[in-house]
Amino acid sequence: MRKGMIKATDAFERIIHWGLAISCIVLIISGLGMMYHSFSFLSIPVGGLKNLKYVHNFTGLIFIVALLFSILMWWKEAGIFKFPEDVEWIKAAGGYLWHVDNVPEVGKYNPGQKIFFLAVALFGVVMAVSGLIMWFPLSLPVVWVRTMYFLHALGFFVITPFFFVHLYLGTIGSPGSASAMFSGWVTRAWAKKQHPKWLKEMEESGKLEVYGE
Ligand code: HEM
Repeated sequence: MRKGMIKATDAFERIIHWGLAISCIVLIISGLGMMYHSFSFLSIPVGGLKNLKYVHNFTGLIFIVALLFSILMWWKEAGIFKFPEDVEWIKAAGGYLWHVDNVPEVGKYNPGQKIFFLAVALFGVVMAVSGLIMWFPLSLPVVWVRTMYFLHALGFFVITPFFFVHLYLGTIGSPGSASAMFSGWVTRAWAKKQHPKWLKEMEESGKLEVYGE
């Protein structure tokens, strides 16, 4: 850790993030293995499709717990749009798609991250409810259970592309980001570029944690 680094996330936030992320990746891979014949080779490492289903269902329980904590933890910062700053940011596409001299400053999470969070939160709940009903159909009407299969597949096709965009932007697409979720510490330059308003607010309120100070 270098002197002057800034604390962006606490240990709890990172544990929840990785609980959500790892369970989500396992669910995507195991779900793919169960959904398509051509991906059924994904069940070989766990000894067949029946075991893959166990892996999927029990990982789903971890995902549900992590999802609930994620929603409680992030909805204020990542779940609510602020006007007019977020609209200004969207008009400039956050400076990601074309050159923008001054990217409008937004709060801790930008509207792109908010859209990702909301998609994960909304479709995560859809996946949780539909998955639980598919696992325990009880004596619900058949048409309900069939609808759950449709919703579960729909959620898969929404969350999976978002995941790849998030993976790219959280690593090579925005160098310096990944350490926010690994060590929790980021450089001041990164914080100033990615979360300028948050940095200012933290500094003004005296809440900013700077390594070595
Ligand atoms: C292995 C791949 C992943 C990496 C490298 C990664 C990296 C990151 C990073 C660096 C941040 C902080 C961004 C910032 O402060 O600007 C973040 C935030 C977040 N991550 Fe991930 N992540 C991964 C997978 C996932 C998955 C699979 C999910 C959900 C299913 C997820 C959900 C979130 C959420 C909700 C946030 C907070 C706000 C937001 O960016 O919307 N992450 N991630």
